[in-house]
Amino acid sequence: MPSYEIAVIPGDGIGPEVIREALRALDALAPRFGFTARTKSYPFGAEHYLKTKEILPPGAFDDLGAAQALLLGAVGDPRVPHGPLEQGLLLAIRFRFDQYLNIRPARTWPKAPIPVNIPEEAEIDILVVRENTEDFYMNLGGVVQAGKARADIPIERGLYKGAAKVEVSLDPPAEGAFTLGLLTSPATLRVAHKAFALAEGRGERVLHCATKSNALPHLYGFWDRTVAEAAVSHPEVKLRPINVDNLAYQLSRSPQNYGLILCPNLFGDIVSDLAAGVTGGLGLAASANIGEGLSMFEPVHGSAPDIAGTGKANPLAAILSVSLMLGHLGEKDAALALEEAVGLYLNKSPRGLLPYELNGGAACSKVGDLVVQAVEGRL
Ligand code: NAI
Ligand code: MG
Repeated sequence: MPSYEIAVIPGDGIGPEVIREALRALDALAPRFGFTARTKSYPFGAEHYLKTKEILPPGAFDDLGAAQALLLGAVGDPRVPHGPLEQGLLLAIRFRFDQYLNIRPARTWPKAPIPVNIPEEAEIDILVVRENTEDFYMNLGGVVQAGKARADIPIERGLYKGAAKVEVSLDPPAEGAFTLGLLTSPATLRVAHKAFALAEGRGERVLHCATKSNALPHLYGFWDRTVAEAAVSHPEVKLRPINVDNLAYQLSRSPQNYGLILCPNLFGDIVSDLAAGVTGGLGLAASANIGEGLSMFEPVHGSAPDIAGTGKANPLAAILSVSLMLGHLGEKDAALALEEAVGLYLNKSPRGLLPYELNGGAACSKVGDLVVQAVEGRL
């Protein structure tokens, strides 16, 4: 019987609330599909940081790396300034394990209201593929003080090591800040080839590539040329570059016209929330961060401090992240069954039993109960 070691970081805010329900769904699936999943939970996040002043203790990467997958809730807390937790935990894990492929599906679900008028028979089935290691997320930045900045920032990625040396001088002097975006051909090519392969697997004829090479020709002109180079090996799928501002506009009006959307890191973050917004909402948006070693599965949403502790969090994004995790582990039937269980629960439920996010009245744990019942064939 296959047995999987799953590392779990519930995190902050609604993170632990939604992860609890996701793990219940995992426990319900395991005996039905003949595998075991042993989970080990880590307390990392804002609470741990405030108590210990430490984001990840020494040895944390080794511990996490020993697992076959990592399930994360969300990190972030209003008591901790923006930056250290996201940089030191979430991004650190993505970079350390070179999780270069970020996959974020956004599709229509039964009973999930769509805030856009689309033709009655149309469905939305978007897959955002986000490059996950480069662009403006590399933390190559600093402050400009009295018109001067000098930085020598080390770079360490799975694909390369190095440094960025930056000097800024302004006359007359002004206070400011800078962030450097970097894209490289090996990182862009590997994610582009994966995106084309995923498009082929989905039977897509077109791959949209989000860009902004009109305004940022150095960085995104390079992106466009490199993605076009990858496209040559995938003649069945037509590459269609689109300016990301136009893409945002089009997605808010005709999301049904989009399938696979390949994005550099920053645009991918924004486009995937937009795609979630025009489909079921962030509470239905799951994601996978895939690398050659440890891969991480997490809802697209954050810790939602505005609803933490109220029971109003929708756990379906975390539950669907478990489905992506099982697919990655090779448990394809269990992955599909869980996705179907979510669909069945939504389909069968009267309004009162839907998540609050879908204008219903079911608390986070009640939604978890109903998904478990669907998994066990009791709904
Ligand atoms: P957020 O995604 O936490 O919340 C945005 C909005 O969506 C809020 O109104 C929230 O109530 C709602 N929402 C999110 N998830 C929901 C769910 N499952 N059910 C129902 N409603 C849901 O984004 P925000 O407010 O920008 O960030 C809050 C904190 O989370 C910040 O500290 C941020 O840095 C962090 N964050 C962490 C992420 C991660 O750990 N992967 C990703 C995004 C943000
Ligand atoms: Mg985001």
